[in-house]
Amino acid sequence: MINSASIRYASILLAAVVMASCSREPQMNTQTTSPTSATAPTAATERDVHSYAVPEEARVTHVSLDLSADFTKKQLSGKATLDLTRAPNATKVVLDTQDLDIHGVTDTDNGGKPLQFTLGSDDKILGRALTVTLGPTTQRITIDYTTNPNAAALQWLDPEQTAGRRHPYLFSQGEAILTRTWIPTQDSPGIRQTYDAHITVPAGLRAVMSAEQLTPDGTPAANGGKRFDFRLTQPIPPYLIALAIGDIAFKSISPRTGVYTEPAVLDAAASEFGDVEKMVQAAESLGGPYRWGRYDVIVLPPSFPFGGMENPRLTFATPTVLAGDRSLTSLVAHELAHSWSGNLVTNATWNDFWLNEGFTVYFERRIMEALYGQYRVAMLEVIGRQDLLDEINRLGATSPDTRLHLDLAGRNPDDGTTNIAYEKGAAFLHVIEAAVGRERFDAWLRGYFDRHAFTSLTTAGFLADLHANLIKGDQPLEQKIRINEWIYQPGLPDNAITPTSTLLAKVDDQLHAFAQGTSATKLDTTNWVTQQWQHLLMNLPPTLTIAQMADLDRAFAFSRQNNSEVLFAWLRLAVRHHYQPAMPALEHFLTSQGRRKFLKPLYEDLMATDWGKPEAKRIYQRARPQYHAVSRMTLDEIVK
Ligand code: BES
Ligand code: ZN
Repeated sequence: MINSASIRYASILLAAVVMASCSREPQMNTQTTSPTSATAPTAATERDVHSYAVPEEARVTHVSLDLSADFTKKQLSGKATLDLTRAPNATKVVLDTQDLDIHGVTDTDNGGKPLQFTLGSDDKILGRALTVTLGPTTQRITIDYTTNPNAAALQWLDPEQTAGRRHPYLFSQGEAILTRTWIPTQDSPGIRQTYDAHITVPAGLRAVMSAEQLTPDGTPAANGGKRFDFRLTQPIPPYLIALAIGDIAFKSISPRTGVYTEPAVLDAAASEFGDVEKMVQAAESLGGPYRWGRYDVIVLPPSFPFGGMENPRLTFATPTVLAGDRSLTSLVAHELAHSWSGNLVTNATWNDFWLNEGFTVYFERRIMEALYGQYRVAMLEVIGRQDLLDEINRLGATSPDTRLHLDLAGRNPDDGTTNIAYEKGAAFLHVIEAAVGRERFDAWLRGYFDRHAFTSLTTAGFLADLHANLIKGDQPLEQKIRINEWIYQPGLPDNAITPTSTLLAKVDDQLHAFAQGTSATKLDTTNWVTQQWQHLLMNLPPTLTIAQMADLDRAFAFSRQNNSEVLFAWLRLAVRHHYQPAMPALEHFLTSQGRRKFLKPLYEDLMATDWGKPEAKRIYQRARPQYHAVSRMTLDEIVK
C-alpha cells in the first residue's frame, strides 16, 4: 500500500577528564538564572535522565558491530564489542537496552571469558539497564544479542512497501533514545563513541550506514549474501548510528556528495538535490570546514517517520521532499546544517534539544539565504513563526514546555520535539545576531563550533560560551538580549523580531480579496511558489464555506496536488471544513506515506469531529501496520 511511486517522487584523555567531572546528581535542572562564570564546564556535567549509564564509573568510547540481518525473522543478530574507559575503582559498566535478547557477555581481551550481567526492570520509556560486572583488567566487552522484530528503531519493510516492490528493506532511526533497541550501549547524547560495523545481508541487497564505506560493493558471505564494512572515526552520540538495507543504488552529484535511493527513485532524487554541493560550500563558509568527509542523502521508502534525519555522512530523508522543483529542499539544508549544530556540537541531554534544533533552523536559513536569497528565506521565517505561535497556543503560553531549556524527567524525550526547540530557538539566535550585528555574530558562531567540536554541550555550557566569547560583561547588551527570559521562561519574549515577507504579503492581498468575495479563479497567483501556496492555505478565514472550498479546488486543483506540503495544508482545511470531495485524496495521503508531521495533525483534526472519528479509526486500522513504530506510538494515543 505504501509505495513511493504513488506519491510522485511522489577521545580518551578528554573522556577521562569529562568522566572525572561528572556527577550523578541533578545540578541545573531547576536553575532559573544564567551562570556568568566563564569557566563553567562545556561538556556534559548534567545527568542525562534518559540513560541508565554511569559514565563517571565506566564509559563506552567505541562500538564495534558484527550483525546479520534476517528479513524472515525481522531480526538483527550478532555481537557488539564495546571499548571502555574506566575510573580506577570501577567494578561495572551500565548500558541501555530495550527489547533486546542478551545471550551472553564476554571479556573480549581476556580469552573471551564470560562476564556476569543483570538486566534491570523494564521501563516503558527507558527500557532496561544492562549491568555488566567487569573483571579487574576488562577493557572491552562483547555482547552477543538479537533484536526484537518490533524494535522501535528498526522498520522492516516487505517488498510491497518499497518503490521497486521486489526486495525487502530495513532502516533504523536512533534519535532520540531508540538506538538502545538495536545496539546495547550507553545511549546518551553526552557519551560520544566512534564505531565500526560488519553488516551481513541477504543476496541482492546492499547496506549503507552513517559511516565511511570500506567495502562499497560488499564481500561474499554465506548463502549468496554479502558483508559490508563501515568505520566512523569521529566520536558521535549513539543516536547517530544508522543503518539502511535494501535494493539501494547510488548516483554522484559532486565529488563529495551524492544520493542513494531505490533504483526507481534515483534520477528524481539526484535532480531534486542538484544544489547540495553549493549548500555544503555555503555551510562551510558559516560553520568552518565540513569535517565528515562525504555528504550523501538517502531517500528512504515513504514510511520514514520524519522529514529528515541528520545521520553523519548520510542524511536520511523522506521521499515526500521530492516535489520535482526543488521547492522543499530547505529540508536538506537543515539536515546538512546539523553536521555542525547537532553532530559536531551536540545537545548533552534531551533537555537541551534546542541547542540541536534551534541552531540548525537558524543555520538552515543562512544556507538558504546564501543559495536562493532573502526573499525565499523571509517566507520560511514567516511560516516558521506562524508554526511557533500555533505551538505556543497549543501548549499554553505559560506552559513549561514553551521554555527553551526543558525538564523532561520521567517523560519521553519525544515530548520535547515541538516547534519551541526549532523556532523559538532560531528566533533567539536571531535576536542575538541583531543585537551584535552579523559580523560579530558570525565570528562567534564559527568559534563556537571550533571550541566545542566533537563535544556535547548543555544549555549552561552554551551560556558560559556566550558570556565568555560574545557578551564579555557588556551589561547593556545582555539586557537587550534578555537571555534568561528566552531560555528559562515560557512563551515568546517581546524582543523577538517579527519576520516579514514581501512575497507572502502578495498572498495576503489575495487572501483579502478572497475574503471580500472575489472568486478563486480571479485571484492573481502569477508565478506563485510552494511557500506562497502554503501561506494561502494556512491563512484562509475560519468561516470558509463548502462552496468556497469547491471554488478553490476548482481553480487550483488542490486535491490533485503533488507537492506534499501544499497537499497537507489543503487536506487540513478539507478536514476542518468537512470538504467531502477531498476525502479520497486524504485517505490516499494517509495511507501512502508515514511522515509523522503530516499524519499527526490530520488524525487529530479528524478525531475532533463526530463524522471524522469513525473515518480516522477506519483509515488508521488499514494504515497502522504500514506505519513506523515512531509514528504508531504517537498516533495510538490520538486514534483510540
Ligand atoms: N533531528 C531531527 C529529527 C528528529 C528529532 C528525530 C527528534 C527524532 C527526534 C531532524 O533534523 C528534523 O528536524 N527533521 C524535520 C525536518 C526539518 C526540515 C525541520 C522533520 O523531520 O520534520
Ligand atoms: Zn533537525
